[in-house]
Amino acid sequence: MEITLKNIKKSYNHKTVLNIPDFRFTKGKIYGIIGPNGAGKSTLLKTIARLEALSEGEILYNHQPFRKAILKDMTYLTQKPFLFAASVRENISYPLKFRQYKRDEINFLVERIISEFSIEHLANQLATKLSGGEAQRVALARALIFNPQILLLDEPTSNMDPNSIEIIEKIILKYNQNKDKMILFITHNVGQAKRVCDEVIYLENGIIVESGKAKTVIEAPKSENLRRFLALEYYVN
Ligand SMILES: Nc1ncnc2c1ncn2[C@@H]1O[C@H](COP(=O)(O)OP(=O)(O)O)[C@@H](O)[C@H]1O
Ligand SMILES: [Mg+2]
Repeated sequence: MEITLKNIKKSYNHKTVLNIPDFRFTKGKIYGIIGPNGAGKSTLLKTIARLEALSEGEILYNHQPFRKAILKDMTYLTQKPFLFAASVRENISYPLKFRQYKRDEINFLVERIISEFSIEHLANQLATKLSGGEAQRVALARALIFNPQILLLDEPTSNMDPNSIEIIEKIILKYNQNKDKMILFITHNVGQAKRVCDEVIYLENGIIVESGKAKTVIEAPKSENLRRFLALEYYVN
Protein backbone atom coordinates (compact mmCIF):
# COMPACT_ATOMS: atom_id res chain seq x y z
CA MET A 1 0.00 0.00 0.00
CA GLU A 2 1.19 3.44 -0.89
CA ILE A 3 -0.51 6.82 -0.82
CA THR A 4 0.68 9.57 -3.13
CA LEU A 5 -0.36 13.20 -2.88
CA LYS A 6 -0.12 14.94 -6.24
CA ASN A 7 -0.47 18.69 -6.27
CA ILE A 8 -3.23 18.64 -3.70
CA LYS A 9 -4.94 21.80 -2.58
CA LYS A 10 -7.85 22.34 -0.25
CA SER A 11 -9.55 25.70 0.17
CA TYR A 12 -12.35 26.91 2.37
CA ASN A 13 -13.95 30.22 1.39
CA HIS A 14 -11.10 31.00 -1.04
CA LYS A 15 -8.51 30.44 1.66
CA THR A 16 -6.04 27.65 0.90
CA VAL A 17 -5.56 25.54 4.02
CA LEU A 18 -3.64 22.68 2.41
CA ASN A 19 -1.11 22.87 -0.41
CA ILE A 20 1.13 19.84 -0.97
CA PRO A 21 2.84 19.55 -4.38
CA ASP A 22 4.19 16.04 -3.95
CA PHE A 23 4.39 13.57 -1.09
CA ARG A 24 4.39 9.81 -0.71
CA PHE A 25 3.42 7.66 2.25
CA THR A 26 4.76 4.11 2.10
CA LYS A 27 3.81 0.81 3.69
CA GLY A 28 5.40 -0.28 6.95
CA LYS A 29 5.89 3.20 8.32
CA ILE A 30 4.38 5.23 11.11
CA TYR A 31 4.16 8.91 10.20
CA GLY A 32 3.72 11.61 12.80
CA ILE A 33 2.05 14.83 11.69
CA ILE A 34 2.85 17.82 13.85
CA GLY A 35 2.22 21.54 13.58
CA PRO A 36 0.34 24.43 15.17
CA ASN A 37 -3.46 24.68 15.46
CA GLY A 38 -5.05 25.37 12.10
CA ALA A 39 -2.01 24.08 10.16
CA GLY A 40 -4.20 21.72 8.13
CA LYS A 41 -3.33 18.46 9.90
CA SER A 42 -6.91 17.23 10.31
CA THR A 43 -7.79 18.42 6.81
CA LEU A 44 -4.94 16.32 5.41
CA LEU A 45 -6.24 13.14 7.08
CA LYS A 46 -9.83 13.91 6.10
CA THR A 47 -8.93 14.33 2.43
CA ILE A 48 -7.02 11.03 2.48
CA ALA A 49 -10.04 9.37 4.16
CA ARG A 50 -12.29 10.96 1.48
CA LEU A 51 -14.34 12.75 4.11
CA GLU A 52 -13.40 16.05 2.47
CA ALA A 53 -13.13 16.60 -1.25
CA LEU A 54 -9.97 18.13 -2.67
CA SER A 55 -10.15 21.53 -4.35
CA GLU A 56 -7.31 20.60 -6.70
CA GLY A 57 -4.98 17.72 -7.38
CA GLU A 58 -5.24 14.03 -6.75
CA ILE A 59 -4.53 11.35 -4.17
CA LEU A 60 -3.42 7.98 -5.52
CA TYR A 61 -3.87 4.75 -3.56
CA ASN A 62 -1.37 2.15 -4.76
CA HIS A 63 -0.79 4.24 -7.91
CA GLN A 64 -4.53 4.09 -8.66
CA PRO A 65 -7.22 6.74 -8.40
CA PHE A 66 -9.55 6.34 -5.44
CA ARG A 67 -11.88 3.35 -5.49
CA LYS A 68 -14.49 2.53 -2.86
CA ALA A 69 -12.75 -0.78 -2.08
CA ILE A 70 -9.92 1.23 -0.47
CA LEU A 71 -12.27 2.20 2.36
CA LYS A 72 -12.41 -1.41 3.54
CA ASP A 73 -8.70 -1.28 4.31
CA MET A 74 -8.62 2.15 5.87
CA THR A 75 -9.88 3.56 9.13
CA TYR A 76 -10.05 7.15 10.28
CA LEU A 77 -10.29 8.04 13.94
CA THR A 78 -11.60 11.51 14.67
CA GLN A 79 -10.24 13.70 17.41
CA LYS A 80 -13.51 13.35 19.35
CA PRO A 81 -14.51 9.74 18.81
CA PHE A 82 -18.12 8.90 18.14
CA LEU A 83 -19.41 5.87 20.04
CA PHE A 84 -23.03 4.81 19.92
CA ALA A 85 -25.36 4.32 22.87
CA ALA A 86 -24.68 0.67 23.54
CA SER A 87 -22.13 -1.22 25.59
CA VAL A 88 -18.43 -0.90 24.91
CA ARG A 89 -18.39 -4.56 23.83
CA GLU A 90 -21.14 -3.91 21.27
CA ASN A 91 -19.35 -0.84 19.96
CA ILE A 92 -16.17 -2.83 19.46
CA SER A 93 -17.90 -5.75 17.74
CA TYR A 94 -19.78 -3.51 15.33
CA PRO A 95 -17.16 -3.37 12.51
CA LEU A 96 -17.06 -7.18 12.47
CA LYS A 97 -20.85 -7.55 12.43
CA PHE A 98 -20.97 -4.98 9.66
CA ARG A 99 -18.47 -7.09 7.70
CA GLN A 100 -20.48 -10.25 8.44
CA TYR A 101 -17.87 -12.14 10.42
CA LYS A 102 -19.12 -15.36 12.06
CA ARG A 103 -20.32 -15.13 15.65
CA ASP A 104 -17.54 -17.32 17.12
CA GLU A 105 -14.91 -15.29 15.37
CA ILE A 106 -16.47 -12.04 16.56
CA ASN A 107 -16.47 -13.26 20.17
CA PHE A 108 -12.88 -14.39 19.95
CA LEU A 109 -11.57 -11.17 18.37
CA VAL A 110 -13.57 -8.89 20.66
CA GLU A 111 -12.39 -10.56 23.87
CA ARG A 112 -8.82 -10.58 22.59
CA ILE A 113 -8.78 -6.87 21.80
CA ILE A 114 -10.53 -5.99 25.09
CA SER A 115 -7.73 -7.75 26.92
CA GLU A 116 -5.01 -6.23 24.73
CA PHE A 117 -6.35 -2.75 25.44
CA SER A 118 -6.82 -3.53 29.17
CA ILE A 119 -10.44 -2.39 29.07
CA GLU A 120 -12.07 -5.42 30.70
CA HIS A 121 -13.48 -3.10 33.37
CA LEU A 122 -15.26 -1.02 30.70
CA ALA A 123 -16.61 -3.83 28.51
CA ASN A 124 -20.18 -3.80 29.84
CA GLN A 125 -20.46 -0.06 30.37
CA LEU A 126 -22.52 2.27 28.25
CA ALA A 127 -20.05 3.73 25.74
CA THR A 128 -21.64 7.19 25.72
CA LYS A 129 -20.93 7.58 29.46
CA LEU A 130 -17.17 7.08 29.24
CA SER A 131 -14.61 9.77 29.99
CA GLY A 132 -12.80 11.37 27.02
CA GLY A 133 -9.69 9.23 27.41
CA GLU A 134 -11.66 6.00 27.90
CA ALA A 135 -13.74 6.74 24.81
CA GLN A 136 -10.57 7.30 22.76
CA ARG A 137 -9.24 3.95 23.91
CA VAL A 138 -12.48 2.14 23.01
CA ALA A 139 -12.69 3.92 19.65
CA LEU A 140 -9.15 2.82 18.80
CA ALA A 141 -9.98 -0.79 19.75
CA ARG A 142 -13.01 -0.61 17.47
CA ALA A 143 -10.86 0.86 14.71
CA LEU A 144 -8.20 -1.86 14.92
CA ILE A 145 -10.42 -4.89 15.28
CA PHE A 146 -10.88 -5.49 11.56
CA ASN A 147 -7.14 -5.20 10.96
CA PRO A 148 -7.13 -2.25 8.52
CA GLN A 149 -3.98 -1.68 6.47
CA ILE A 150 -4.12 2.10 6.79
CA LEU A 151 -4.75 3.91 10.05
CA LEU A 152 -5.51 7.62 10.12
CA LEU A 153 -5.48 8.81 13.72
CA ASP A 154 -6.29 12.36 14.75
CA GLU A 155 -4.66 13.01 18.14
CA PRO A 156 -5.57 9.55 19.48
CA THR A 157 -4.16 10.11 22.96
CA SER A 158 -4.98 13.79 23.52
CA ASN A 159 -7.31 13.19 26.49
CA MET A 160 -5.53 10.25 28.06
CA ASP A 161 -3.65 9.86 31.31
CA PRO A 162 0.04 8.82 31.12
CA ASN A 163 -0.72 5.19 31.89
CA SER A 164 -3.25 4.93 29.03
CA ILE A 165 -0.91 6.78 26.69
CA GLU A 166 1.78 4.19 27.34
CA ILE A 167 -0.64 1.34 26.61
CA ILE A 168 -1.80 2.96 23.36
CA GLU A 169 1.73 3.75 22.15
CA LYS A 170 2.69 0.10 22.67
CA ILE A 171 -0.42 -1.05 20.79
CA ILE A 172 0.32 1.26 17.85
CA LEU A 173 3.94 0.06 17.65
CA LYS A 174 2.86 -3.58 17.89
CA TYR A 175 0.26 -3.05 15.18
CA ASN A 176 3.04 -2.29 12.72
CA GLN A 177 5.60 -4.74 14.11
CA ASN A 178 5.61 -6.73 10.85
CA LYS A 179 6.03 -3.52 8.84
CA ASP A 180 2.90 -4.25 6.86
CA LYS A 181 0.70 -1.33 7.89
CA MET A 182 0.69 2.40 7.28
CA ILE A 183 -0.14 4.70 10.16
CA LEU A 184 -0.58 8.47 9.86
CA PHE A 185 -1.03 10.04 13.18
CA ILE A 186 -1.44 13.58 14.37
CA THR A 187 0.07 14.38 17.73
CA HIS A 188 0.79 17.41 19.86
CA ASN A 189 3.26 15.46 21.90
CA VAL A 190 6.74 15.75 20.41
CA GLY A 191 8.10 13.11 22.79
CA GLN A 192 5.40 10.77 21.57
CA ALA A 193 6.29 11.45 17.93
CA LYS A 194 9.88 10.50 18.70
CA ARG A 195 8.88 7.35 20.59
CA VAL A 196 6.36 6.04 18.08
CA CYS A 197 6.98 7.46 14.61
CA ASP A 198 9.44 6.49 11.89
CA GLU A 199 8.91 9.73 10.00
CA VAL A 200 7.68 13.15 11.04
CA ILE A 201 5.97 15.80 8.93
CA TYR A 202 5.84 19.37 10.14
CA LEU A 203 2.90 21.27 8.65
CA GLU A 204 2.38 25.01 8.85
CA ASN A 205 -0.25 27.03 6.97
CA GLY A 206 -1.08 23.94 4.92
CA ILE A 207 2.48 23.48 3.73
CA ILE A 208 4.95 20.72 4.58
CA VAL A 209 7.81 22.77 5.97
CA GLU A 210 9.98 19.80 6.95
CA SER A 211 9.73 16.03 6.80
CA GLY A 212 12.05 13.10 7.28
CA LYS A 213 13.22 10.61 9.88
CA ALA A 214 11.56 11.36 13.21
CA LYS A 215 14.79 11.65 15.12
CA THR A 216 16.36 13.97 12.54
CA VAL A 217 13.37 16.28 12.19
CA ILE A 218 12.87 16.57 15.94
CA GLU A 219 16.48 16.69 17.08
CA ALA A 220 17.94 18.67 14.20
CA PRO A 221 15.21 20.91 12.78
CA LYS A 222 16.37 22.99 9.82
CA SER A 223 13.85 25.81 9.85
CA GLU A 224 13.58 28.52 12.45
CA ASN A 225 9.78 28.01 12.63
CA LEU A 226 10.09 24.33 13.51
CA ARG A 227 12.78 25.10 16.07
CA ARG A 228 10.44 27.58 17.74
CA PHE A 229 7.49 25.16 17.55
CA LEU A 230 9.50 22.33 19.13
CA ALA A 231 10.79 24.54 21.92
CA LEU A 232 7.22 25.54 22.83
CA GLU A 233 5.86 21.99 22.59
CA TYR A 234 8.60 20.66 24.85
CA TYR A 235 7.81 23.45 27.25
CA VAL A 236 4.12 22.51 27.60
CA ASN A 237 4.47 18.71 27.49
N1 LIG B 1 -15.28 22.93 7.35
C1 LIG B 1 -14.49 24.00 7.37
N2 LIG B 1 -14.93 25.20 6.94
C2 LIG B 1 -14.12 26.30 6.94
N3 LIG B 1 -12.85 26.30 7.37
C3 LIG B 1 -12.36 25.13 7.84
C4 LIG B 1 -13.14 23.93 7.86
N4 LIG B 1 -12.38 22.92 8.36
C5 LIG B 1 -11.18 23.48 8.64
N5 LIG B 1 -11.16 24.79 8.32
C6 LIG B 1 -10.01 25.71 8.47
O1 LIG B 1 -8.91 25.10 7.83
C7 LIG B 1 -7.72 25.33 8.56
C8 LIG B 1 -7.05 24.01 8.89
O2 LIG B 1 -7.88 23.32 9.81
P1 LIG B 1 -7.47 21.92 10.42
O3 LIG B 1 -7.08 21.00 9.32
O4 LIG B 1 -8.58 21.48 11.30
O5 LIG B 1 -6.18 22.29 11.29
P2 LIG B 1 -5.39 21.46 12.40
O6 LIG B 1 -5.99 20.08 12.46
O7 LIG B 1 -3.97 21.47 11.98
O8 LIG B 1 -5.56 22.20 13.69
C9 LIG B 1 -8.12 26.15 9.78
O9 LIG B 1 -7.86 27.51 9.50
C10 LIG B 1 -9.59 25.89 9.91
O10 LIG B 1 -10.24 26.97 10.50
MG1 LIG C 1 -6.96 19.08 14.01
